[in-house]
Amino acid sequence: MNLGVNIDHIATLRESRQISEPNPLYALPYLQAAGANQVTIHLREDRRHICEDDVCAILAQSSLPVNIESSLNAEILEFLCAQRPHSITLVPERREEITTEGGLELQANEQRIASALEKIAKAGIVPALFVDPTRENMQKSYELGARKVELHTGHYANVWLMLHGNLSRTRHSIKALQKSREELRSELDTSVWNLHDVAVFAQNLGLHVAAGHGLNAQNVGEVAKIGAIAELNIGHSIIGRAVFVGLKEAIGEILDAINKARGAS
Ligand code: PXP
Repeated sequence: MNLGVNIDHIATLRESRQISEPNPLYALPYLQAAGANQVTIHLREDRRHICEDDVCAILAQSSLPVNIESSLNAEILEFLCAQRPHSITLVPERREEITTEGGLELQANEQRIASALEKIAKAGIVPALFVDPTRENMQKSYELGARKVELHTGHYANVWLMLHGNLSRTRHSIKALQKSREELRSELDTSVWNLHDVAVFAQNLGLHVAAGHGLNAQNVGEVAKIGAIAELNIGHSIIGRAVFVGLKEAIGEILDAINKARGAS
């Protein structure tokens, strides 16, 4: 299983002061030394963290494949296609959101998504979609031209947080209080079962299957056990943990959890 490390939040910290440090570019040697397999960045329309200069510098210096998340914004896509990253993952974007909420609405945007995927593929870049984990979304992703899907694990991560997390400062606390622990446990089992079912379905269609959002060293195991998932993209928990133990160690902890779940050494 490959691990993509999302380094956007190094730039979030930089932008909180609007100066040049910390620079996400300087994360690259740590990712490599820790054994990560991919760099993931998101060039958002509001440039709240990563900007064009970061994209160019990271692509110029990364020895790891670079996966770039993008909305359907035509100008951004044109820029990204010209930079030739390894893959471009189309994601939904709303300015007011704190982070990506839910996968792309495929039915509502079929034409735009299909033409964006075509443009990406024509540039020799792997065309990917970030979608909620349903069989319908896998089928539709394939038909629209995606060759890779990233399953949104946000629902799994939210239920995990309601069951195991410290809810005092989360948006999920009220919902969690309305449910019994048995209900939450069953919801968590169902979401893992569903991720497994959908990942196998997507793999059988010939899609490369990735997953991500809200994963951390504690909850990643259940997702990592799913053999059909070939790649995980993890950001916030790694950068948050790196504040205390350093980036190399934080990535190492996630890799240990993944390898343990997969039955590797
Ligand atoms: N995958 C996609 C498509 C995302 O948009 C994000 C969030 O930027 C992630 C993975 C990583 O999520 P997190 O930061 O919660 O680990």
